[in-house]
Amino acid sequence: MKTALFAVVAAVLVASGNAIPTPSNHVLHEKRTSLPRPWVRSNRVERDAILPVRVGLMQNNLEIGEDLLMEVSHPSSPKYGKHWTQEEVHDMFAPSTSVVQEVRDWLVSSGVADTVIVHSENKGWLAFDIPAWKAEELFHTEYHEHFHSASGKVTVGSDDYYIPEHIREHIDYVTPGVKLSAPLTKSKVKRDVHKGHYKPGPFKKQPPKWTGHPWPKPPGAGSLPLNLQGCDRNVTPACLKALYKIPDAHRSDPANVMGLYESGDTYSQEDLNLFFAKYAPNVPQGTHPKLDSIDGGQAPVAPNSDFNTGESDIDMDIAYSLIYPQKITLYQVDDSVEAFTDGGFNTFLDALDGSYCTYTAYNITGNSPGVDAVYPDPAPGGYKGPLQCGAFKPTRVISVSYGVSEFDAPVAYTKRQCNELLKLGLQGVTFLWASGDYGVASFPGDDNDNGCLGTDSKVYNPSFPTCPYVTNVGATRLYENQTVLDPESALQANLGGSASLFASAGGFANYFPVPSYQKVAVGNYLKYHNPGLPSYVANADATNIGEGGGVYNRAGRGFPDVSANGALFRAFNDLSDLHFYGTSLAAPIWGSIVTLINEERTAIGKGPVGFINPVLYANPWAFNDIKNGSNPGCGSSGFKAVDGWDPVTGLGTPAYPSLLKLFLSLP
Ligand SMILES: *[C@@H]1O[C@H](CO)[C@@H](O)[C@H](O)[C@H]1NC(C)=O
Ligand SMILES: *[C@@H]1O[C@H](CO)[C@@H](O)[C@H](O)[C@H]1NC(C)=O
Ligand SMILES: *[C@@H]1O[C@H](CO)[C@@H](O)[C@H](O)[C@H]1NC(C)=O
Repeated sequence: MKTALFAVVAAVLVASGNAIPTPSNHVLHEKRTSLPRPWVRSNRVERDAILPVRVGLMQNNLEIGEDLLMEVSHPSSPKYGKHWTQEEVHDMFAPSTSVVQEVRDWLVSSGVADTVIVHSENKGWLAFDIPAWKAEELFHTEYHEHFHSASGKVTVGSDDYYIPEHIREHIDYVTPGVKLSAPLTKSKVKRDVHKGHYKPGPFKKQPPKWTGHPWPKPPGAGSLPLNLQGCDRNVTPACLKALYKIPDAHRSDPANVMGLYESGDTYSQEDLNLFFAKYAPNVPQGTHPKLDSIDGGQAPVAPNSDFNTGESDIDMDIAYSLIYPQKITLYQVDDSVEAFTDGGFNTFLDALDGSYCTYTAYNITGNSPGVDAVYPDPAPGGYKGPLQCGAFKPTRVISVSYGVSEFDAPVAYTKRQCNELLKLGLQGVTFLWASGDYGVASFPGDDNDNGCLGTDSKVYNPSFPTCPYVTNVGATRLYENQTVLDPESALQANLGGSASLFASAGGFANYFPVPSYQKVAVGNYLKYHNPGLPSYVANADATNIGEGGGVYNRAGRGFPDVSANGALFRAFNDLSDLHFYGTSLAAPIWGSIVTLINEERTAIGKGPVGFINPVLYANPWAFNDIKNGSNPGCGSSGFKAVDGWDPVTGLGTPAYPSLLKLFLSLP
């Protein structure tokens, strides 16, 4: 194999035609040790071919990101609610002016005309188009075409490149460069990134035949209105409104359109119409969301389509029944080919914030092929357009009922994504995210057969987003003969087969330490309700998961933050009236509640609530604390719901009037 230095000298000689000596101040910046599998190196790029060059600059201030988010989200902060514009976020994290100038000076002194250098809108990179020979001279490299044998894609890249020592610390990366589709550097723990990324949607079951009241109503239900007498067996919007004291909605300020993320599952209008007619007559037939199609996402589909598996149907059923006449924006993400393989949520975040497409952190720039979907998608029927960057504005509230195991992606990938969620929080976006449905495990087949970690599959497996900048939502239920006046328990149910241990997911992250707003709550839980399970303290790279026989990370971010009913919900899918279970139901309930709160704030001239966790943890009185139930898994009984915050149901279920009062009292 040629050494790097050889390549540099040869490149300069061939490229410029002159024997320019290698300036002694250039140092190696990035180097590829081997070409990733499906790529094959081909011809040297023609010397006069024009290359679009991008120099990615180091972001500033990421280390204070969390403090900045707390400043606008903590109830006792004088800057509460003073959210940032997208431009202000870009400016804060943008490289400093002096850094930009230094890099620009170097480019100009090396012969790149000042007038062709564009400083990107997000201020993160310098862009210019120059002939290949000039780029080779600048970076002391050789550019070659590379063929991707599987897809037929051609990309320009180099094996390594060099940058003057004095500006190296300001530069994250250069493209074209060594990243073609370099697979992620995985941490040392073995994992399979292609397996089981998406947690299956909500669990559905055929309910017993329903002809009014074939069963005796609960003894305590006598004095309740007729539509609340069967909430222990069939949860309807009326039951949810009664449980959480949610009034009928009447506002619809365009600022508060609610966002729903869907991917790999698509709603059917016929199912929605059947639901509205039977369970939510306040919503007119034909009511449907505005489609923001991201990277080829399509909706709706026919009821019997393979893509209509229930998730989208119930998300919309719940949200419309609670917020109508307010509208919904549907972010239907990824084409039908990629939706099942996309590892995470990066293509969604790219579409909401164009700067994320090219943002570098922890040595990862942009999406990670092999984990994230790649566009244009060469597969038959795939989306042929380019990756969508910044195509849509985020709604104030986004509910997501999809998850992956935290462990499915490397630490760096996950932290980079979490930074983006922080930036959206700074802009006032609230994310409500379902916690998962398999107790302390991920879903069966994820990572291990039982969805757990460790060589003997006993280590708990938290589901992403364990990122502390979203609100993670667990699920609760009523048991037989209970009414909406009884306290709920953590969601647990034996739904048979692989779902015989169906339970609200909760526990402690391995990739994120406990955030400041949660320290007291988690500390109290561990102190006064010590679960009595062996634990470990995860290191920064999370390479010691399960150390010393521990089953959870005692220093991790605890989840969920909150919870809401997730059992026995009646809704239509493929024209059948079914029972649905899962945290998938709880996230849109919370999304609807935050939307209603934003509506009331808008009506009195206040802004959106944004990232809500710091307010919630400082005001546990605004919840119905859930104290019964647990979340078993991984061959253990998991954690127990107790007084105060717990890693099963979080702070509890919403007491809407209290939450509204709380958020209306804030500036
Ligand atoms: C990024 O890569 C450099 C060079 O390979 C390495 O020294 C550094 O530790 C890496 N940083 C992270 C956050 O992984
Ligand atoms: C519910 O109440 C009915 C009527 O009182 C009773 O027959 C039934 O056993 C109760 N079910 C449970 C699970 O307690
Ligand atoms: C408490 O939860 C258990 C399941 O863990 C359930 O069997 C029991 O009925 C619940 N009790 C109450 C009072 O809700």
